[in-house]
Amino acid sequence: MQSSLSLTELAKSILEDAQTLDSFLSSHNLPQPSFAADGVKDFPVGTEHADIHVIRHRLIDATKELRDLVVGPKDTIKWMIMNVRSHPGSQPTCYFPLQGRPGCSEGGSISLAELARTTGLTELDVARFVRRTAINHIFVEPTPGHVAHTATLPAGAKVVDLGGALGHISLGIAEKFEDLEFVVEDQDPLMEQACRLISSYPDRIAKRVKFLPHDFFQPQPAEARAADAYIMRYILHDWSDTYAKEILKNIFEVMREDSRLIIADAVMPPAGVLPKCQEEVLRSFDVSMLAQLNSQERTLEMWKGLIEKSGGGRWKITGIVSPPKGESITILEVKSS
Ligand SMILES: C[S@@+](CC[C@H](N)C(=O)[O-])C[C@H]1O[C@@H](n2cnc3c(N)ncnc32)[C@H](O)[C@@H]1O
Repeated sequence: MQSSLSLTELAKSILEDAQTLDSFLSSHNLPQPSFAADGVKDFPVGTEHADIHVIRHRLIDATKELRDLVVGPKDTIKWMIMNVRSHPGSQPTCYFPLQGRPGCSEGGSISLAELARTTGLTELDVARFVRRTAINHIFVEPTPGHVAHTATLPAGAKVVDLGGALGHISLGIAEKFEDLEFVVEDQDPLMEQACRLISSYPDRIAKRVKFLPHDFFQPQPAEARAADAYIMRYILHDWSDTYAKEILKNIFEVMREDSRLIIADAVMPPAGVLPKCQEEVLRSFDVSMLAQLNSQERTLEMWKGLIEKSGGGRWKITGIVSPPKGESITILEVKSS
């Protein structure tokens, strides 16, 4: 709806609503919203206070309207397109948990040079990605050349590794990132071997990795619901679309609005793009998937179609990290659209 208010009138209505929210928070002893790393992740008022949420939504709309009016119609569209276009390019930084990384201080910050060293990117590119995502409050730069988390990359996040075999991938990640907890799901007969492998690791790692026997064609159990992230590494290429859809539906059903699914699998390039020796490996995988399992390696278009159909259009591929030279694995990030 078009606003008939002047900029000052709009700003006054914003001030009034902000004051109402502030006094509600202080009278109910609730914290102020913040992007500090130890801040609350959601607006700290429960849905039972419907009247407060009416004001909150009005405030969200009015602040956007004021901003858009000040930016102006032409630049609003131009900036929106430019920002959306650059966003996927910054996705790799979302895979950069900082805590537990060599060189990360107790306060949780790390120099861009050290972050570049431990991610294998150039310092220039790390700085570009970090500063792009900092605009959206994912990171902050507390001092020039140093980066730290905000509340948007939570510590203690829970990750479910579906078809995680004995837990080798989860154990490897848990070793690097001390703040993550893992549920490794795989078939019952692997339980004994998996528990043996997990308990052979130092306690600081083993205590954060739990094996859970589960058939991923069945609905997800309570321990695996509403996790922060779900990983499927080399799972879906074993299954034709009919079965892959069933597996995905069971995961989408238990994902939170802000959970993400990380698919690590091959993405088939168009013919002739890769050097022949690399393309041959991928095409051989594809044909052996067909011969052994009636399944396939998928192109990006096929992955998009599979995700869309399994999730009723609600889930989309929002990030793609291409494989390092010589590797066949691509990382696809799937989030709610
Ligand atoms: C190709 S392996 C991938 C293992 C591991 N994610 C990795 O990247 O090394 C496929 C895994 O899926 C598991 N799996 C197959 N069918 C399953 C099912 N119905 N429920 C749970 N796990 C299953 C297998 O036991 C196996 O560990």
